[in-house]
Amino acid sequence: MRGQRLFVRPMEAGDGESVRLFLEIESPESVPPSAALVGKLVGNLAAVLAMEVTAEALLIRDLVVAHDLRKKRIGRFMLDELDALAVKMEREWLVFGCDAPAEFMRRVGFQNDGGRMVRRVRR
Ligand SMILES: CC(C)(COP(=O)(O)OP(=O)(O)OC[C@H]1O[C@@H](n2cnc3c(N)ncnc32)[C@H](O)[C@@H]1OP(=O)(O)O)[C@@H](O)C(=O)NCCC(=O)NCCS
Repeated sequence: MRGQRLFVRPMEAGDGESVRLFLEIESPESVPPSAALVGKLVGNLAAVLAMEVTAEALLIRDLVVAHDLRKKRIGRFMLDELDALAVKMEREWLVFGCDAPAEFMRRVGFQNDGGRMVRRVRR
């Protein structure tokens, strides 16, 4: 991955099939999202972050990084891109709405707030 840049953008209608196939391989229990950020490395899907917009927050419905690309900070980068989107959408919080590994959530700055794992948007 050294030197390759992760390109992140909102999922478009045309991504439907490739996202479905990616999840089938990388996380068969995941449901294809209706709204998401997709992360691409040299044109190949590397990560999918399913999201939902609420009044005060952007909710992370799912986050899947390709098996062979894990622990390379792609998950962290996808959350930072979601943070940038939250700033544009004037949302205050990022909230996990799915069960990610606790240590991962802690290391990327989320804290437990009444049973929800949240991170204040970084302006
Ligand atoms: C969870 C997941 C998204 C993390 O993505 P990733 O790209 O591997 O995570 P990153 O490399 O950005 O990790 C960020 C930090 O958390 C740590 N971390 C990542 N996964 C971890 C795990 N399973 N347990 C403990 N620490 C973990 C990393 O070591 C890194 O620490 P550092 O920044 O201090 O070096 C990925 O492992 C995945 O797709 N898992 C399967 C699907 C899943 O469970 N998704 C969560 C649904 S909400």
